Amino acid sequence: MNKKNLLFSALMAAGCAFSAMAVLPEAEINSRVNDLIGRMTLEEKIGQLNQLSGYGYAPEMVGQIRNGAVGSILNEVDPEVVNKLQREAVENTRLGIPLIFARDVIHGFKTIFPIPLGQAATWNPAVVEEGARIAADEASSVGIRWTFSPMVDISRDARWGRIAESFGEDPVLSETLGVAMVKGYQSDDLSQPNTMAACAKHFAGYGAAESGKDYNTTWIPEELLRDVYLRPFKALADAGSATFMCSFNDINGVPSSGNRKLLQNILRDEWGYDGLMVSDWGSIQQMIPHGYSENLRHAAAQAVDAGVDIDMESYAYTGHLRDLVEKGEVSEARVDSLVRNVLNLKYRLGLFENPYVDVATSKRFYAPASLDAARRAVEESAILLKNTGTLPINNSKVKKIAVIGPMADAQHDQAGTWVFDLEKEHSVTPLTALQQMYGKENVIYAPGLDYTRDLSTKGFSDAVKAAKKADVVLYFAGEEAVLSGEAHCRADLSLPGAQSRLLQELKATGKPVVMVVQAGRQLAIMPESELADAVVYCFHGGTMTGPALANLLSGNVNFSGRCPVSFPRMSGQEPLYYNRKNTGRPAEGITLINDIELEAGQTSTGCTSYYLDAGDGALFPFGYGLSYTDFTYSDPVLSASEIGPDGTVTVKCTVTNSGDRAGSEVAQLYIRDHVASLIRPVRELRGFEKITLQPGESKTVEFVLTPAELAFHVNGSQTVVEPGEFSVWVAPNANEGTPARLTVVKPQTVASR
Ligand code: BGC
Repeated sequence: MNKKNLLFSALMAAGCAFSAMAVLPEAEINSRVNDLIGRMTLEEKIGQLNQLSGYGYAPEMVGQIRNGAVGSILNEVDPEVVNKLQREAVENTRLGIPLIFARDVIHGFKTIFPIPLGQAATWNPAVVEEGARIAADEASSVGIRWTFSPMVDISRDARWGRIAESFGEDPVLSETLGVAMVKGYQSDDLSQPNTMAACAKHFAGYGAAESGKDYNTTWIPEELLRDVYLRPFKALADAGSATFMCSFNDINGVPSSGNRKLLQNILRDEWGYDGLMVSDWGSIQQMIPHGYSENLRHAAAQAVDAGVDIDMESYAYTGHLRDLVEKGEVSEARVDSLVRNVLNLKYRLGLFENPYVDVATSKRFYAPASLDAARRAVEESAILLKNTGTLPINNSKVKKIAVIGPMADAQHDQAGTWVFDLEKEHSVTPLTALQQMYGKENVIYAPGLDYTRDLSTKGFSDAVKAAKKADVVLYFAGEEAVLSGEAHCRADLSLPGAQSRLLQELKATGKPVVMVVQAGRQLAIMPESELADAVVYCFHGGTMTGPALANLLSGNVNFSGRCPVSFPRMSGQEPLYYNRKNTGRPAEGITLINDIELEAGQTSTGCTSYYLDAGDGALFPFGYGLSYTDFTYSDPVLSASEIGPDGTVTVKCTVTNSGDRAGSEVAQLYIRDHVASLIRPVRELRGFEKITLQPGESKTVEFVLTPAELAFHVNGSQTVVEPGEFSVWVAPNANEGTPARLTVVKPQTVASR
């Protein structure tokens, strides 16, 4: 049994210790749910559809629970209060239906893991699953049995603050890691008390917010919606995510909370999803300012019709559903169908049998094995973007290290966004970890700036003095946690405050400078990357950021993180993503702005598709990342050069560690359909595998391509594979590799993904 499995078994055993319950058979759950619904009043049914934010064991809340007016509570994390409120529901209501307690446990509860975008940079589903398992164990120990995660909104725009909570720009990477996260939260048996129900959110298209501004409108043709934005949601529905959350945005003019096509026709009817749909916070009410509902009563009717089971904090159902049913505008059978999904979840979670938290074993936080897993997650997440030989720190030459920058000792900010339960004293910073590793006397600390937005240069002279005394400068730059996340979008993606100026002064000392960026998104760091001798990118890493970075910088551990997004040269390139379509005039013979001659003719720079100031493409492409060793790829070998209906083709590629130390590499399978009735992207990821190789070792990675992976949508919802030529790469990133040819021989319609 490997280390990870041991930890899993230990965590599962902790859960099993509370009860030896097993999942009830589905038929048994259905019959109990139907029996209960048959005995409920309309008022009690509506109560189950109402979710409120907790505010302690307060008389008003207790009154609402006793009246059966609340079905679930979010944001209550004190296990004693959870038990007291639960006792009111179970012992002081007519039918004794338990509450569900929910929380946004996004990347850890107490032991904080990298933000989801950072987890995506690991390209390792096992790491993501393990993090989710630990988060579920910690959060469920205080009674949280439902998390609003994972967020699988595809995000192609770094300005959007919530990109931090996503797995980045690619549907295949997002679906693979999203499924792993669901597995981690829910394990194999949701009824065990140390699990949490997952929630696939935000359904759908939220990450396509126009101009990267949160909550903004989206306009997504159905083919693109299905090829890109819905793909991870379908995978999560198939993987059994117990719940879904609809999104705030409108798609093509219809807000998700009232979008029957999305919530009923696609999710329920087409995909056969039978879990629960919760609204986003106040999103039913928000259909009024959207201009889709006349008033809250109208909004309630639209949400019920679309298929929103639970109203989170809009008070639309409690305020109006009774009247809507009594006036015949909503049928009671429709209400029953929503209630059924809520009760079903409560049974599946085992709450009827085991409603209370075991306070004796509650607060299972910061176990050594959990901290270890959190450290390994950051180690796999950090990306080495540039290295001119400065890294790893050469212990025989380096005696003194200057640690500089506002993110060197930022216990709060290294945790990142969406951490409601942070106890920042548990965050181990790079400064602390480096002092432990190299000895306090060898680390000269001068932050230079107090925080990332700091514009004051008063600390610069101390920082420069520290740099001059040292053999190497480690400059910890980035973005504070509050600069990403919900409603925290930025139009300017450069390093905030005077961080860039400080780097220039450090570089002017002539000392080698390593820039380590901790941020909630891919920032536009072109000038700084050119200046620094080495660049490490670490999306906010959480509790164990410091020890992980110390291990990587010192060379104790090798880098294996890869970009889950395309890094822009300049903010104005956004939205920027690798799986773009070609123009009729692809970039060619780029002349940049400073190279244009005076009074040059209008057509002198050529008429191709690029920016005069930013050129074309990413600074660091999707999939990219360096290592302390080198990898070489053989040309891909296909088991057949043609594929017909129902055929499969195996793609093999041998990856060799041609350097002199062990390392991990992410082999990425890409395809391109060269000619199609709706033009296809220049590359699309279709699989990946992270492998570890000793020096000189080779491994053959193998992927299987089926027609489903060559397919795309036409006429809205129809899935086709068109005959013709495809390129197939196995490559280290979206820009490299040698393609093999594959021919699709017959037109095919395949089952939708
Ligand atoms: C967010 C959701 C979150 C919910 C509950 C909303 O503002 O969009 O992602 O789950 O709040 O906290």
